[in-house]
Amino acid sequence: MNYKELIEQSKSTRDFKDKEVPQKIIEQVSEYSSDSTTIFPDQKIQMKLLQDGHEVYHALEGMAGFNGIMIKAPQYILFSTDNTKDHQINVGYYVQNMILKLEDLGIDSCWIAIPEDGEIIKLALNIADDKEAAALIAIGYDNNQVKVINRFHFGENYSKTDMKVVENNVATRLTMDKIVYLDSWGNNMSVDRLIEMKMNDIFHYAVMAPSTYNRQPWRFILKGDHLYLAIRRDPGVNDELDLLDAGIIMLYVELMMRDANITGKWHVVTDTKMDGIPQNYRYIGFYSH
Ligand SMILES: Cc1cc2nc3c(=O)[nH]c(=O)nc-3n(C[C@H](O)[C@H](O)[C@H](O)COP(=O)(O)O)c2cc1C
Repeated sequence: MNYKELIEQSKSTRDFKDKEVPQKIIEQVSEYSSDSTTIFPDQKIQMKLLQDGHEVYHALEGMAGFNGIMIKAPQYILFSTDNTKDHQINVGYYVQNMILKLEDLGIDSCWIAIPEDGEIIKLALNIADDKEAAALIAIGYDNNQVKVINRFHFGENYSKTDMKVVENNVATRLTMDKIVYLDSWGNNMSVDRLIEMKMNDIFHYAVMAPSTYNRQPWRFILKGDHLYLAIRRDPGVNDELDLLDAGIIMLYVELMMRDANITGKWHVVTDTKMDGIPQNYRYIGFYSH
């Protein structure tokens, strides 16, 4: 998969065609998931295709989605896991990886926020198991022919229907110099410095990560060969959403570090305090060798 291209083109779809995703694609995503690694390799995450979109939409209306506004889609995928400490970090990381795979296979999607108590969702959907409902996404084909973001490649033949307006989703994101500090909190790194350190590409793509309400809560401190991550806590956004947002950006950083041939991995240390991080931020961990 060309992750840079996928990340660049990724966006939330909220208006779907009335067309189902073929079973074969779901199987391909499922196979991909069994070959993928996560931050907590021992945590098992299950994917469940919710086939009857109409039924799911009505069952979850008023309950799932920002302010209870459910997104209408032909199908959904529910992700469940054991309710272990910080499990949502891994769920964010894992689900976003599946979203990139779906996109690679031509499928559009959108995250849908669910209540902290996943039991409510399971009850509404008549699912009886001992797992925690941890995340939900809508899947299908984008109905909005105007906003989509395929790039134009010269020399290729595009029909009018395939031609989509180019809109780079970077426009709605913070610039990298607003999210990376050097050595200590508040000491913003300039883009030039990031270029000098050959880290500009990593953050250029990282800021494209989706986040709840597009609030972009991530801040990094680059110190020596460690990259520390903190997530802002915002009123109206629960702890689980903070951790999902953390997991998503951790996936993007890791993919881009790998692309830049920087070896390392994420170390989650949510129990530890980190000096200098303001109280309204939550320290998640660091990336290093
Ligand atoms: C954990 C999570 C939950 C989300 N829940 C919803 C939701 O319930 N409804 C919605 O319309 N968008 C939801 N989103 C999508 C974000 O609003 C979206 O990613 C952000 O605005 C950036 O836009 P983009 O994904 O098109 O780049 C969610 C995103 C995340 C990461």
